[in-house]
Amino acid sequence: MAVSTNRAATFLDKGGTGKTTSAAHLGVALAETGEDVLLIDLAGKQGDLAKHFGVWSDVQTEIDADDDWPNISTVFAEEWDQIASKLGDAAVDSLIVETDEGVDLIPAHPGLDSLDADLGNIDDARERYSRLERFLDEYIDGRYDTVLIDLPGLTNNVTYNGLWATRNVVAPVEMGPFESEQATALERDLEKIDDQFGVDVDLAMILPNKVDTRTKLATEYLEGFGEEYEGAIAPEHVPASQDIRNAADEGRTVFALEEPSTTAERAREAFLESAAKLQQRLGESR
Ligand SMILES: Nc1ncnc2c1ncn2[C@@H]1O[C@H](COP(=O)(O)OP(=O)(O)O)[C@@H](O)[C@H]1O
Ligand SMILES: [Mg+2]
Repeated sequence: MAVSTNRAATFLDKGGTGKTTSAAHLGVALAETGEDVLLIDLAGKQGDLAKHFGVWSDVQTEIDADDDWPNISTVFAEEWDQIASKLGDAAVDSLIVETDEGVDLIPAHPGLDSLDADLGNIDDARERYSRLERFLDEYIDGRYDTVLIDLPGLTNNVTYNGLWATRNVVAPVEMGPFESEQATALERDLEKIDDQFGVDVDLAMILPNKVDTRTKLATEYLEGFGEEYEGAIAPEHVPASQDIRNAADEGRTVFALEEPSTTAERAREAFLESAAKLQQRLGESR
């Protein structure tokens, strides 16, 4: 099927490197350029992306009121097509939450908890890993210019669905030895997927995050990453910025700050430039 929507997933097999932060900020950066953007949170029931946009309490209210069906875990179910044809447009509409930063979001749901195990019960590997791709092909493509999916910081059946559906990974990495190994491991994993299934998942972007260029080590790693991942390195690194943390705690991105600090300004710039580069790479790989 011809894909008319750019897709990418934020992923690294490690927690805390900035996957959720990057999905949120790259999404808003693309929306600033006029794109229609959908974010999908597959990173776990804690709902980090919805929290990042200050809409988690609304989602939680629906969950508490048992008004939370269908939800993101429903689209992985075998009977999704029947559900969707019965509900019509409302099926997809009711999954989507609007944010006040110009991006739409399909938030996480407690059902994600058992999703990995549920998918594990599907015998056929292709079927097990392609449920999300089918959903995007049938129900999301054409409605948005770009879909960004936030994945768990570990490799499981849900992660595989995200990689298959997007074929493109954005990996936020901190400037340290462990992350450097993780990036190498990621490349190896992607090659394995290609060998095993003939599914070609590209490393679309390595995004150095939380960079403190005052330290020599960070600068050295930055150079090293740039050389090793010449075709994938982001045009700008994202600086370590307390404003990013604070804004997230307040339920917004640094783009929504009225008086951004210098580092927040630089973070904005880095996300804007990286988003433009990502858009270009995704367009070329389509
Ligand atoms: N550039 C940055 N500067 C400062 N704090 C950051 C930056 N990027 C992310 N953080 C913070 O680091 C923590 C982990 O980021 P997060 O995006 O949740 O990582 P992941 O999704 O990979 O687990 C969060 O508290 C987030 O606000
Ligand atoms: Mg996360």
